[in-house]
Amino acid sequence: MLDIVLQSIWLILPAYIANGSAVVFGGGTPIDFNKKWKGKEIFGRGKTWRGFTGGCLAGMAAGVIMNAFPYYGTMPLIVIFSLSCGALLGDLAESFLKRRVGIERGKMLPLLDQIDFVLGALIFTYVICIMVYGESNWFTEHVSMVHIACILIITPLIHLATNIMAYLLKLKDVPW
Ligand code: CTP
Ligand code: MG
Repeated sequence: MLDIVLQSIWLILPAYIANGSAVVFGGGTPIDFNKKWKGKEIFGRGKTWRGFTGGCLAGMAAGVIMNAFPYYGTMPLIVIFSLSCGALLGDLAESFLKRRVGIERGKMLPLLDQIDFVLGALIFTYVICIMVYGESNWFTEHVSMVHIACILIITPLIHLATNIMAYLLKLKDVPW
């Protein structure tokens, strides 16, 4: 069981790094250029180009470094890329959803706030791998339903803990 938990954390690590690094690199021009849609912000000022690209690149760098220590198989570059990019896309999609239902930037949407980026990473990577490699691929061979369940349970706990730390270090305005 501990093996599965550690494998799960390992698999999703590029997504964690991508999501966490977006906070560090964030700032500057918003992805939606402050444009509105039906009177509401599209993504809001918390989603910036610098955060997106910086987070993506940091996640990919982490994945490449991890491949030097292949704890649970060597991740193909496409997997590393889509885990990182998918994490930021999931986070972006969640902000889009929050703005649609009128939740302001920084206001929380419990649970979805904590798992948006892993959902994005897993779904995006699954789709990309099927498209590129077909139905049986590195992702389907290495990521089981048990891994996914583990990731979905552990992530809110880790995410909450790291966000509280980022808040205490004044990198974030709110502790979630
Ligand atoms: N960030 C960024 N660009 C991204 C994602 C994140 O610049 N694509 C940075 C922003 O500084 C953001 C911080 O990371 O404030 C934390 O991200 P998150 O908690 O997802 O954003 P919130 O500010 O809480 O906004 P939202 O309500 O849209 O989730
Ligand atoms: Mg978010």
